[in-house]
Amino acid sequence: MNLKSKCLFLTFLGLLTLGAHAQEKAANADNAMRMPKGIKQPAQKAPPSNNWLQDADSDSDRFKKLEIYLRGFDQPMLEVGERYQRTYDAIKDRNWELADYQWDKIKLVINTGLMKRPKRTQNAEGIFLDGIWKQMDETIKSRNYGEMEKQFMVVREVCMACHAAEKVPFMNNRPLFRDLVF
Ligand code: HEC
Repeated sequence: MNLKSKCLFLTFLGLLTLGAHAQEKAANADNAMRMPKGIKQPAQKAPPSNNWLQDADSDSDRFKKLEIYLRGFDQPMLEVGERYQRTYDAIKDRNWELADYQWDKIKLVINTGLMKRPKRTQNAEGIFLDGIWKQMDETIKSRNYGEMEKQFMVVREVCMACHAAEKVPFMNNRPLFRDLVF
């Protein structure tokens, strides 16, 4: 074996070991289990354990825990932000299939977010889903780069308009909207 293939072999072994470890649970410090002070959740008879849902006293408490855990509109919006970035990258790469995929996911994420925060539905549909989302979808499918550049800039404005309408205008002053331009 020459040096290069030895190195390759060792890297391969390393990856194999990493893979095996990924299946195991991470190590824990030897501390007692207790509920966090920072969140209010239903009281339960069972002591805290990793079976955080099974431990609850009733299904109703389990649903309450899930509602807390699944949060509100912030988490879907974090995903929308990520996928918006990926849409931009895909357009730059002229990877229309990927742009189309990301754009569909953005619609799904906003809609499932609205299941949790129905007060946002009126603006989400009125400002975004029923209008600009569809126009952007058509532009992506048309694969017209020149049109796409203009359309993306309109989408950007509309994202920011909803933040203003929903009274979180401070969301707009960030690199995502400053830097991702055509
Ligand atoms: C319903 C109107 C609405 C639309 C449409 C909308 N947003 Fe938001 N966005 C919000 C609200 C409201 C928040 C604040 C989150 C919260 O209240 O929990 C937010 C927060 C964000 C955040 C910050 C998330 C965080 O926690 O750091 C990003 C990033 C974001 N939006 C990106 C976008 C992008 C990109 C688009 C367009 C593709 C968009 N948003 C469209 C309402 C909207």
